[in-house]
Amino acid sequence: MNSQFAPFSPGTLTERHYEMLVQAVVDYAIFMLDPAGVVVSWNAGAARIKGYDANEAIGQHLSLFYTDEDRQAGKPDYLLELARCEGRAQDEGWRVRKDGTRFWALVVIDAIRNELGEVIGLAKITRNITDRREAEGRYEALRAQLFQAQKLEALGQLSGGMAHDFNNLLTIILSAAKLASRTDDPERLASLLDSIQTAGQRGAQMTRNLLTFARCEPKATRQVDLDELLDAAATFIDQALPRTMTLRMQVDEGLHPVQLDPSELEMALLNLVLNARDAMGVVGEVQVQACNRQLAGEAGGLHGEFVEIIVADQGCGIDPSIRSRLFEPFFTTKDVGKGTGLGLSQVYGFARQAKGGVQIDSAAGWGTLIRLYLPAIVGGLADEPL
Ligand SMILES: Nc1ncnc2c1ncn2[C@@H]1O[C@H](COP(=O)(O)OP(=O)(O)OP(=O)(O)O)[C@@H](O)[C@H]1O
Ligand SMILES: [Mg+2]
Repeated sequence: MNSQFAPFSPGTLTERHYEMLVQAVVDYAIFMLDPAGVVVSWNAGAARIKGYDANEAIGQHLSLFYTDEDRQAGKPDYLLELARCEGRAQDEGWRVRKDGTRFWALVVIDAIRNELGEVIGLAKITRNITDRREAEGRYEALRAQLFQAQKLEALGQLSGGMAHDFNNLLTIILSAAKLASRTDDPERLASLLDSIQTAGQRGAQMTRNLLTFARCEPKATRQVDLDELLDAAATFIDQALPRTMTLRMQVDEGLHPVQLDPSELEMALLNLVLNARDAMGVVGEVQVQACNRQLAGEAGGLHGEFVEIIVADQGCGIDPSIRSRLFEPFFTTKDVGKGTGLGLSQVYGFARQAKGGVQIDSAAGWGTLIRLYLPAIVGGLADEPL
């Protein structure tokens, strides 16, 4: 038997085997370029995807496969230069077949170097992902429709919730005012005025939470040093917890500064800590941690330098069935008078306003961990999230 065509087995693969492998691949265009970008090899996948056979493609410059717009913008040369200098270039975009039709391609170009480190050629792999892109487009359109429907539902809920809660407050204010106008007892009068004031303050707090959610609160953002802010916050957070609960703060040194409205961050922290308190009932520990984090899309699609603030509890946890509703204004599982359902809406609105995000990790009975991501100011400039 000709050894070159013996069955594949470990240790017996020859260059010819690799060539056969590359040739056998039909779902990927795999071809080599010389350092200037001229095609020197061509596989079956390349012929299938691009429509040129090997005789037509070999000897041509890479730019043949690009659209006129991309050629004029210098994209092929830019990608070649990037691969030569950085070792690799990646791109996603339209490419043109021999018959002039276009397909959406995912492209990787890798530099191949000799033992001296000189670039002797480039390996290029192209995949036709038009179907995937179209499917994503359809998915996005469906998602937009669903989002619109959810928005309308939330709006209905918002109006209903607002009317209900403000009505309760107005009932307290009006009846207390009526009773106050009839009483001569100074003590009773003071207590009635007190309840009017408390109801008024609760109303003001509600509007503030709502405005943050709606992102129409005039922003008083400035560069904030988080070490100082969190240090000061520990005091008021501690006061918000009953004596049977403890607060554990763990703030890394050298936190990046952030650009935000500090009073909004304080309110968000308080809202999260109050939720942790309510979830734990009587005893427990609330943990607040802060550290610098570099994100590459793993958290809510955020990219760049962030400060991560975590508020964690070992309370009752959140049932998966209500996960999708947590940020809805007026969504609460608490008894009447115990919660308005605006805490997490404020946290969400604040995080979005600050160009950051919120992530919730929870399981019923295990506890809850909420991560707040705030874009860091690195080198004097806010790291603009992608
Ligand atoms: N740490 C947590 N553990 C368990 N459940 C939580 C936690 N945080 C939030 N939740 C759930 O999410 C719901 C919504 O929280 P949100 O803070 O928006 O409103 P609320 O706490 O009910 O009322 P408000 O904050 O306006 O007083 C809560 O009612 C609760 O069911
Ligand atoms: Mg709350």
